[in-house]
Amino acid sequence: MSTDNPLITQLRSIVGPTNVLNEGDLSAWELDWRKRERGHALAVVRPASTAEVASVVKACAAAGVSIVPQGGNTGMVVGSTPDASGTQVVLSLTRMNQVRALDGANLTITVDAGCVLQSIQDACEQAGFLFPLSLASEGSCTIGGNLGTNAGGTQVVRFGNTRELCLGLEVVTPQGEIWDGLTGLRKDNTGYDLRHLMIGSEGTLGVITGATMKLYPLPKAQLTAFAAVPSLDAAVQLLGLAHQHLSAGLTGFEVMGQFALSLVTKHFAQIKVPFQNTDFPYCVVLENSDQESEAHARERFEHLLEVAMEQGCVVDAVVAESITQARALWHIRESIPLAQAQEGLNIKHDISIAVSRIPEFVRQTDALLQAAYPGARLVNYGHLGDGNLHYNVQAPEGGDAEAFLRDDEKGVNGIVYGMVDQYKGSISAEHGIGSLKRDKLVQHKSPVALDMMRAIKRALDPHNLMNPGRMLSIK
Ligand code: FAD
Ligand code: MLT
Ligand code: ZN
Repeated sequence: MSTDNPLITQLRSIVGPTNVLNEGDLSAWELDWRKRERGHALAVVRPASTAEVASVVKACAAAGVSIVPQGGNTGMVVGSTPDASGTQVVLSLTRMNQVRALDGANLTITVDAGCVLQSIQDACEQAGFLFPLSLASEGSCTIGGNLGTNAGGTQVVRFGNTRELCLGLEVVTPQGEIWDGLTGLRKDNTGYDLRHLMIGSEGTLGVITGATMKLYPLPKAQLTAFAAVPSLDAAVQLLGLAHQHLSAGLTGFEVMGQFALSLVTKHFAQIKVPFQNTDFPYCVVLENSDQESEAHARERFEHLLEVAMEQGCVVDAVVAESITQARALWHIRESIPLAQAQEGLNIKHDISIAVSRIPEFVRQTDALLQAAYPGARLVNYGHLGDGNLHYNVQAPEGGDAEAFLRDDEKGVNGIVYGMVDQYKGSISAEHGIGSLKRDKLVQHKSPVALDMMRAIKRALDPHNLMNPGRMLSIK
């Protein structure tokens, strides 16, 4: 174990020698989830408390060493792994994994930032409450990472992004000071809202060490349906009906193209996907949560589907009869990213457009892509209820991989993001910017907005030590 570097010696004295890793296989921390980039860290440091985080940050700041905060390392945009220089410290929060307090009357839970999302959901359910944030990565992503990226997921249509679920933060600043903002207040207009500045800042403005999150009552019943729809226009029409008939009971509305579903069948033969090999181009997963009863939920849900069939926006549908069946239907949707990863070379997009304009956007963009890359395969799925599509493009079978990955205005990204601009959409709805989309941000965000963002970064982190090169490049 080398002790040559005085910073490493100091970090060992702060968090204990076994919690500073600088040799052996560090790929769990150095390689991003999509295996796009492998970095090299000076060390991986694993503090167990906010005080330890503050001391680590102070020591790194004094040594001029930059820090990459990391939670579960499930991010999609290469934001949580170090660069290749071997000079950055990865600050892994996963040892900070305790529930600090649950206040039932205030409907809040206060947790360490390294808590795995699923463990928070479970703790809340055991106490009789719902914590609604839900992503397919929930078994390994952390609440600190969810806040760092302002993650979305499958319940946003009812409960909003992580931002809307957060009532307070504890943050270690780039100077190593601790800001205790864990108030749990629902109203607090005392100046700039620093919490909202930190949320979605991708570790570039400080380290989130704790959070107070909103709770909801557990629903009395939850029903899931899987419906085949004749077009994307029909899916949007169904969404409108679902809002109208279920109101706040509509807790999930996901769309999946048939090609995306065929990848699930291909790579996970054990998963049974309804309505395969049919002419229906899209399927939808809908969820209805009800505060009254199972019977009430079923009556409302079945009525919605009847009306939708009468209007022609649903061709066929199955409603889960049990929790196990409901989980199986959700599992189909959640398996798409993994199936796509297994299929090989692909370009991912995480775009948002006004819901009403999505069918027109997809028609036009599909046509442009097919003209430029005949045979390109469109893996289109996502959170239609939020206007957020994962409009992903898989290379044509046996096609020219180099041409497909070319990243200029005539390439896949150029075509898709050009159309996103025309539709006044966003190039990153929920995954963030990281290093993968940093150069794209400059092309697609207003220069005025970028100047304000850089001014904030310079004011809070003048030495550019917090996750440098991520989201913004600072000269
Ligand atoms: P990491 O990947 O470790 O970090 C992500 C970013 O947050 C980095 O920039 C990092 O520096 C920063 N960060 C991490 N912890 C902290 C902290 N404590 N303080 C400050 N900054 C911090 N995302 C969605 O939005 N919606 C989805 O539906 C969704 N589904 C997914 C499904 C799968 C199968 C996978 C693999 C990923 C999915 N993701 C989704 C992406 C990912 O899970 C989310 O971005 C998640 O919020 C990342 O959490 P994490 O703990 O893994 O963070
Ligand atoms: C999803 O919605 O499944 C996630 O955002 C992950 C992904 O798009 O790969
Ligand atoms: Zn998503």
